[in-house]
Amino acid sequence: MQALILTLILTGSALMVANIVFYILFITKMNDVVSGGRKKDQVLLFTGLTLLVFFLIGYLIIGFSKPDDLVMALVLFFGSVFVTIMLVLTKTLISTAKERSLQIAQVLIDVVDARDPNLHGHSRHVQNLTMCLYRHLPKQLKSKINPTSLEYASLMHDVGKLGVPESILNKPGKLDEEEWKVMKNHPKIGVHFLNRVSSFQKISDWVLYHHERADGKGYYGAAPEITPLAAKIIAVCDTYSAITMKRSYKEARSHEEAIAIIKEAAGTQLDPTIVDIFTSIPKEELLSCAPEGLGVC
Ligand SMILES: [Fe+2]
Repeated sequence: MQALILTLILTGSALMVANIVFYILFITKMNDVVSGGRKKDQVLLFTGLTLLVFFLIGYLIIGFSKPDDLVMALVLFFGSVFVTIMLVLTKTLISTAKERSLQIAQVLIDVVDARDPNLHGHSRHVQNLTMCLYRHLPKQLKSKINPTSLEYASLMHDVGKLGVPESILNKPGKLDEEEWKVMKNHPKIGVHFLNRVSSFQKISDWVLYHHERADGKGYYGAAPEITPLAAKIIAVCDTYSAITMKRSYKEARSHEEAIAIIKEAAGTQLDPTIVDIFTSIPKEELLSCAPEGLGVC
């Protein structure tokens, strides 16, 4: 009996320590555009952590001061199991909510793409390529970017095209100077939309600067030091997608041609470090980023 009580108390204590570690890892990841940002949420999360620590201290005091009490050992053990279940359930619910939220954003972006036949599937393609590139980033670059926020920024990089008239989006020939001015405004319009959701303000610069260049001659002439890393990543993926997609005014180019063009653009249009990483990704991986129905060769 004594051995059973001791096992229950020790297992329960270990489970509570694991719960606290799990909870700390969980709340440190709650800083993306979907789940982070609000002060009152942070206060609640911190309160939860404090309560868990108090639970553990109380557990140890009661558990080891009553080493003969089987009922108390059972209550403490199942208390820890209950906390584990609640934490797993909370994490699952938040993951599901994040997934749904991304799906809603994808529907919105499909509407943006549908206004321009040339953009069919482009935003999702850029999203997939960006997340593929993110997985290949070295640790020190990876740690600078929240992956959930990056996924949203890459998916929504062209959301501002909702504010560009269809006559310009669908113009078969080249745009004149005035039309270009309107088209070049789409990152700013996108930021205007995104800023309506306070947590999305974190990624507004990632969208704003996605047409900036390594030589500072992009849409708004931002220097590379100002351009966020995420915007440089999106720019490379956007370029690859644009080259490999068929458009009304051009044929789709092959993967090999796209890689050659991107390498050529390193240091002038595109960030050379990001180009190096992108072009080292195996061909099959990049090809698998094409959404269904998008002809990428
Ligand atoms: Fe764009």
